[in-house]
Amino acid sequence: MSSGDYVHGYSATESQRLSDQANTLSGLLHYDSVFHPAGLVLEVGCGTGAQTVIVAPQNPQCDFISIDIAGDSLIKAEKNIKNKGIRNVKFQVADVFNLPFNEESFDHVFVCFLLEHLQEPVRSLTLLKKVLKKGGTITVIEGDHGSAYYYPRSSAAQATIQCLIDVQASLGGNSLIGRELYPLLVAAGFGKISVSPRIVYADASKPEMVDGFTRKTFIAMVEGVKEQAINRGLITEGEWGRGIADLYRSADSDGTFCYAFFKALGKKP
Ligand SMILES: C[S@@+](CC[C@H](N)C(=O)[O-])C[C@H]1O[C@@H](n2cnc3c(N)ncnc32)[C@H](O)[C@@H]1O
Repeated sequence: MSSGDYVHGYSATESQRLSDQANTLSGLLHYDSVFHPAGLVLEVGCGTGAQTVIVAPQNPQCDFISIDIAGDSLIKAEKNIKNKGIRNVKFQVADVFNLPFNEESFDHVFVCFLLEHLQEPVRSLTLLKKVLKKGGTITVIEGDHGSAYYYPRSSAAQATIQCLIDVQASLGGNSLIGRELYPLLVAAGFGKISVSPRIVYADASKPEMVDGFTRKTFIAMVEGVKEQAINRGLITEGEWGRGIADLYRSADSDGTFCYAFFKALGKKP
């Protein structure tokens, strides 16, 4: 994939969405993101550093090299960690399919929301295994848009989510990849694999989840493919408007929203 094929794009709105997503989900996804033994961590597809600013300070015993294919995102990431006084991270422009590192260089690899955008996820994992030391660990976190369900149910809302799934698939990605993490890691030759679903649930008793996840993470992500979906003839403007209104309806005081992320751990034998 070139950075131009990336479904969510690199706008300031998307950068803000990634930050809202990471902050809202930090407890759920990262309470156990602690890398042992101490050593060198390769973060792959770090983007603007939304996960880096959570995981790096949580692991002061480790140094991080955080890579992304998009140099502009790394400039923002660099600013982000400097502002927060984080000192154990170096950023580098690099493609996961052309890693500029020697074999067995890293103690841990950390991947968050990257595989869903790659045409060859198993090949990327196999290449990451090469740069891991024997006995080194990999942590992979991905979502799965097939896991979204909400109240009130709405076929119009479901159609907008399907547009995101279809646009991403047409760019070679797979937004239903969370459920596949176990077989993908097996295929890449990792051992000691364990996968845990991390369920987000939002209703009016958790206003920070309704705002941070339902509105600012999930609906914002779907809204991001509006032009692409309409231009590709996947949906009409009217259907889109009705579907998005129904998604927002699930963030009302009597609505609910549920979604599963998957976090997988594996070891290089
Ligand atoms: C959804 S963003 C996730 C960013 C960050 N991990 C987060 O959770 O906020 C996916 C990132 O993967 C990067 N990416 C896509 N293909 C890549 C590749 N082949 N090698 C390295 N990074 C890649 C994109 O540029 C983008 O920054």
